[in-house]
Amino acid sequence: MLEVTRRRRVGVLISGRGSNMDALIAAARAPDYPASIAVVIANRADAIGLDKARDAGIAATLVEHKIHPTREAFEAALNAVLSAHRVEILCNAGFMRVLTPGFVEHWRDRHLNIHPSLLPGFKGLNTHERVLASGALITGCTVHVVRADVDAGPIVAQAAVPVLAGDTVDRLSARVMTAEHVLYPHALALFASGRAKVVGERIEHVLNATISDASWPLMSPVLDSR
Ligand code: GRF
Repeated sequence: MLEVTRRRRVGVLISGRGSNMDALIAAARAPDYPASIAVVIANRADAIGLDKARDAGIAATLVEHKIHPTREAFEAALNAVLSAHRVEILCNAGFMRVLTPGFVEHWRDRHLNIHPSLLPGFKGLNTHERVLASGALITGCTVHVVRADVDAGPIVAQAAVPVLAGDTVDRLSARVMTAEHVLYPHALALFASGRAKVVGERIEHVLNATISDASWPLMSPVLDSR
């Protein structure tokens, strides 16, 4: 088990239900987890994740994009909250605003996102519909470092999920979501502990484990590598 010297302070950006946020909050309760959730910020007043964060005892703030005249003004308000909470790593978790290149550059190599496909395939919205229409038999989810292009950036970790006969968007998204809730805490642990490092436009992993257990969900790097 990794010896944690200092937990990195994490800010989580959400727009809705916040189930990935829940998974990060739950993981960060473990004393040996290398990150703590310092603040959750939602850009929509109806994001139910805000109440869930408060119920979990986490500072949670509404920064509504629609009351700000420009994207830059909205992002300045986000940064004010993030710096007040001394956030070191930012995690998008179902955050549905495109961020400006200036904001992305400010958080360069300190900013993660989760996307419900095996990137670089199926970037963008309506992912599961497009996966089903494509006939792909394996899909999954990806945690990556944020870059200015949407759903692009160095890949920290991925989990593969089967597409099953008779799948609907709801069934497939629920199966992928189960994997997301395991993958995101795992990826953040690797990143926060310095065991997943950005080198150029790729991630270099520093892992103890060998890939010996390929049980579902197939995950790379393997789950027990923290
Ligand atoms: C997840 O599928 C995530 O991959 C995508 O948006 C969804 C957010 O769900 N970026 P939740 O708000 O975490 O439940």
